[in-house]
Amino acid sequence: MSFQTLVILPALTAVVETPRRAQLQRYMMKLSHAVLGVTFAFALPLSAEAATFDARFDTLTGAAPAVIAHRGAPAYLSENTLAGTELSVRQGADWIENDVQPTKDGVLVVMHDGTLERTTNVETLFAPRNGGYNVADFTLEEIRTLTVDSQSHDYPGFTPSSENPFRVPTFAEQLDALTEYNATYGTNVGIVAELKYGYDPVSNQKAIDTLIAHGYDTPDKAILQSFSHENVHDAAGKLAEMGLTLPVSQLGGAALGLDGQFYIDGKITLAGLATYADALSLTSGSITEELIAAAHDLGLPVYAWTFRPADLNTAFAQMAQVIEWGIDGIITDNPDYAVAVVASYEVAPVPLPAALPLVLAGIGALGLVARRKRA
Ligand code: G3P
Ligand code: CA
Repeated sequence: MSFQTLVILPALTAVVETPRRAQLQRYMMKLSHAVLGVTFAFALPLSAEAATFDARFDTLTGAAPAVIAHRGAPAYLSENTLAGTELSVRQGADWIENDVQPTKDGVLVVMHDGTLERTTNVETLFAPRNGGYNVADFTLEEIRTLTVDSQSHDYPGFTPSSENPFRVPTFAEQLDALTEYNATYGTNVGIVAELKYGYDPVSNQKAIDTLIAHGYDTPDKAILQSFSHENVHDAAGKLAEMGLTLPVSQLGGAALGLDGQFYIDGKITLAGLATYADALSLTSGSITEELIAAAHDLGLPVYAWTFRPADLNTAFAQMAQVIEWGIDGIITDNPDYAVAVVASYEVAPVPLPAALPLVLAGIGALGLVARRKRA
């Protein structure tokens, strides 16, 4: 629970009307960051007892932005594999993003492309079908014989614990493996499952049923996302009917319309989307501070994709801006870099006596706001 959440925001809510409220809240959050920074410098020696203030983050909840490992850790190991998942967990990711789609016989497998040749050795084992290597033309049994070789199979100091760590996993196998890795590493990494196909209510139901059957049935364990607006709408409806609270996120790009409203993919306003979707997964180039603030005002967290920094310095340069703006999640090929960048923003626990000057500063600021409101 942050200082802002405890003191400033409720008080502001009481004295300031929307929409000025949101603007003032953001202003007060920034002011309190400054107050916290100064106070922290003096407060450390005062007590060993600590209260935590997540004062650095303008995310929807005030928590640190989530690190979402995009297809695992493809900067280091072949994408959408058990090995990539395990390395991401080991590197400290909060979520693993995987693409899922059905095989010819209707089993959901973890695979990004609609075809098999970029990421696997399919061309060495099978002749083309229907002029190519569509996932939808191969059975699970056939796909199980393939090896994912899109990126490396080696990462220094890391040996995958799973058997066949570079085979195309079924979605069910992927979830079970993640459960195993969480047990091994003492983590609670969740799954962001992308419904990687056009409108397909049958596969949507399978994805949801698989999540539930494998224990990924709460908002801290699973998020669904899709570029297909129809899939997002359908999955959100199915989850609501089933009484499940798993969030569904719309993938796409945002832009400001001529009417001053933000639109997703030029199709739907943020407010329209917020009537059924729970989050936004947006291409980073389309994200602005104003967009994040507008989404937050509607209760929608914003996740940004895809960060592929060449090194740690580049990671800081690329991610700092969106963190400052209040991004809720960073989708990246390099989970280790994102973990380091977010950690650099973390505020260490503030000893309890330090809370006093913080509260006084907050009350003073509220007095100013109230006076301005009366004026
Ligand atoms: O999660 C965002 C990202 O996965 C969307 O792009 O093409 O990598 O699935 P793509
Ligand atoms: Ca994806």
